[in-house]
Amino acid sequence: MEEEDLRVYMVLKSGHKVEVVDGEEMEAIRKDFPGYKTNLIRLTPGRWLLLDRYTHFANRLYDFKWRSSDVVVMTYPKCGTTWTQEIVWTMRKNPDLDNPEGATTLLDRVPFIDFDIFVPEDAPADSPFLSMSPAFRKLCPDADPKDGVYLQLSEALPDPRTIKTHLSLSLFHPSLLDTVKVVYVMRNPKAVAVSYHHHSRLFSEVGFHGPLDKFVKYFTEGNLVYDPYWVHVKAAWELREHPNLHLIFYEDLKADIMRELRRLDTFLGTHLSDTQLAKVAEHTSFNQMKARRIDYDSFASPEVLQSEGGFFRKGESNDWQSKFTPELEADMDAWVKEKFDFGIQFK
Ligand code: A3P
Repeated sequence: MEEEDLRVYMVLKSGHKVEVVDGEEMEAIRKDFPGYKTNLIRLTPGRWLLLDRYTHFANRLYDFKWRSSDVVVMTYPKCGTTWTQEIVWTMRKNPDLDNPEGATTLLDRVPFIDFDIFVPEDAPADSPFLSMSPAFRKLCPDADPKDGVYLQLSEALPDPRTIKTHLSLSLFHPSLLDTVKVVYVMRNPKAVAVSYHHHSRLFSEVGFHGPLDKFVKYFTEGNLVYDPYWVHVKAAWELREHPNLHLIFYEDLKADIMRELRRLDTFLGTHLSDTQLAKVAEHTSFNQMKARRIDYDSFASPEVLQSEGGFFRKGESNDWQSKFTPELEADMDAWVKEKFDFGIQFK
C-alpha cells in the first residue's frame, strides 16, 4: 500500500477519498485558526478542504432527494450568498413584500444545507447551533438535531424550496443539475479574500487573528474551508451552458441590479413586473438587509464587530483596493492568471 493510502480512512458515495488533516499540519493551522475545534479533512479528487464533521453528512447530502421545483443558491463563501438567497426567495415567495414569512429568519426560509458540518459532534443540546431554528422545531418536532438541523429542515420544507450550499457542484450527485435550477454566484477573488478574512476574524468558530497577507497565503494555497476557490468556480464555469445553471457575478449585481433581476426572472420563470422587481431590489439592498439583521452577528467577536463591522461589512465591489498593498496585488494577479486559466474574466 502507498504511504498516501494509509491516510485515507474513508471513501464517500461521491467517490471522494477522505484524508484527515491532523498532527503537525493541523497544529500549525490551529495556531492561526484557534476556533477550529475539530480536525479538517481533504477530499480527493478536488483537494476540497472541509471540517471532519462533513463525513457524517456527506452521503446524505450526495443522495439528497431534490425536487424539480427546488432552486439551489450555490457559492464559495463570501461571494454574495446571503444577498442572492434573499433575492431568489423574495422573487419566488414575496415579490409584493406582503408575505409575513418574509419577516422570519433567512436561514429558516432558505436553509444552508451543509451548515451542520460546523456543529461539533459533542455540541450540547442547548448550543445555539442546535437550538436556534424555530422552523426546525416546527417542521421536524421529533427529529434529533444531531442528525442535522439544516439538512432535516431542508428535507421537511414544503415546495417550492430555495436551498443554499457552499459545497461545489462536484460534491453532489451528477443528476443535481438535471433535476433542479442552480444559481451560482462568483466574485473577484481579491474581494472574496478580504471578505473571508473579515469573516474568519469575526466569528470565534474560526478565530483567525493574522493579517490579510497571511490569510491570502491560505486562500491561494487552497487551505481554507471550502477551498479551492478556483476548482469551485471551474466546476460551475464548465457547465455554464447547462439550461439549469445560472451564473452571476457579485459585481454585476452591484453594477445593475435591475438587469440582473430581469435575467434571474427569466431563469426562474417568475414572470415578475418591473414594479415587483424594483421592490425586490429595494428590499434586498445592502442597507435594508443590514437593517433587518441576520442572527449571525450574535456569534461575532464584539471587538471585530465594533472596529470593522459585522456580517454586513461593506457590501461593495472595490473595497479590496484599499486593503491590498501593490505587492500583494501583483502576487494575487499572477495567481489568478495561473489558476483561473479556463476563460473566466473577473470584474
Ligand atoms: P463584504 O465583506 O465585502 O462587505 P456571503 O453572504 O456569501 O457570506 O457574502 C458576504 C458578502 O456579501 C459581504 O461582503 C457582505 O457585506 C455582502 N453582502 C451581503 N448582503 C449584501 C447586499 N444586500 N448587497 C451587497 N452586498 C451584500
